[in-house]
Order: sequence, then structure tokens, then C-alpha cells
Amino acid sequence: MKILAPSILAGNHANLIESLRVAEEDGRKWIHLDIMDGHFVPNLSFGPQTVADLRQESKLFFDVHLMMDQPDRYIDSFIQAGSDLISIHLEPNFDHQAVFERISRAGVKAGLAINPDTPIDGLIPYFDSVDLILLMTVHPGFGGQNFIQSVLEKARKIDQIRKNSSHSFYLQVDGGVGLENVADCLQAGIDVFVAGTAYYNCKGPERLAFAEAVGEEI
Ligand code: DX5
Ligand code: ZN
Repeated sequence: MKILAPSILAGNHANLIESLRVAEEDGRKWIHLDIMDGHFVPNLSFGPQTVADLRQESKLFFDVHLMMDQPDRYIDSFIQAGSDLISIHLEPNFDHQAVFERISRAGVKAGLAINPDTPIDGLIPYFDSVDLILLMTVHPGFGGQNFIQSVLEKARKIDQIRKNSSHSFYLQVDGGVGLENVADCLQAGIDVFVAGTAYYNCKGPERLAFAEAVGEEI
């Protein structure tokens, strides 16, 4: 399964519903929601109330990416807000396994994310506990940055481990993803493509071409 997940971070934050509608009208299945805490990343975005209010407006699959130092303090709010998948970062120090168990017990899918400079070794013990591995292809905090090509080397290694095992998680890239790097990502084993700027800054036919390049089934 291949998925193009538009990131509403790139939309108008006074009218996020409009960004949902664009994705729905294009036939997208997922929407990516970036939560920034001003600590783990040098920026703020929005919180669980916004996710809950958007949930009332849409049946899209809510792919919630927590860029937070202490996601364990907020995880229940994001579950209650109606998230379908919640990704947390490997880098901060908290009990990751306990958070995955709380997410899974609630019937929500769990993801684990790493920044571009973080090695993959720390991910490996969690491969059986997660539904998705998120590889940041920019340093997190802001949309509109350039894709870091060298991250695809990590994707290839993870994909190889996945192929030689019974692990079944999705492999996601987030940051600077656009039509120009889709082929390289596919070749590296990527399943889920998050795109903010490249998705929302282009016209309908180009967005559809993007989805076709990714290989998402309509
Ligand atoms: C960075 C964010 C971005 C965003 C994608 O912290 O996670 O990666 O969703 O935005 P673009 O596609 O503009 O890089
Ligand atoms: Zn994200």
C-alpha cells in the first residue's frame, strides 16, 4: 500500500478545514497533523483541541506526528481527540514502550520517528511494537525545507531488515517530499509520503500527478 499524506502544517491555520477538504476532494485517504511543542522543535503548531475539532469535520485517517519532548504527558488527549495513528520521537527520554502500549490498547496505531541525524539502531527494539517508522527528511520544526537525500540510506537499511523478517510496519518520509524525489523514495522502500508545501502549493492536476507517482490506489 502506498499513501500520499498531505500535511496541513502548510495550509492556512485560520482555516484548516479548507486543507482537509482539498485532500478529501483529491481522493486522499490520510492527512498528516504536525504537533510542535516549542521544546523538542523550535516552533509551535496546534494541540489536541484542534485535532478533536477537525475530527468532527472529516473521516480522513488522522496521522498525528508528535514533535514533543514529553509526549507521554499528552498522549491520552491525542487519543481522545480521535487520532488514527500517533507517532512519537525516539530522541527524547521517556518510556517509549509504555506509550506504545497505551496507544495500542486504545485501538490506535503507533509510529516511531527519528530525526535526520539519528542512527537507526535505537529503532530496532521497537520494530514489533509499531505500525509505522517515520524518517524525518528535514530537521523538524518548519515546513518548506529541502529534502535530505542521505536519509534514504537509512530507509534502504530498514526496508532490508523488514524484508528479511516478519515485521510489517509502514515506512514513512516527512519533510521536503515532492514529485522530484518520489522515485528515489519508492526505490528505497518508502510506503507513506508526507507532503506539505509541495502538495498545497500546487494546482489540482499536479496534486493528482503527485499521488499517481506515489502509486496510491484511488
Ligand atoms: C517539519 C514537518 C514538515 C511538514 C512537511 O517539522 O514535519 O516536515 O509536515 O512539510 P514540507 O512538505 O513543507 O516539508
Ligand atoms: Zn510531520
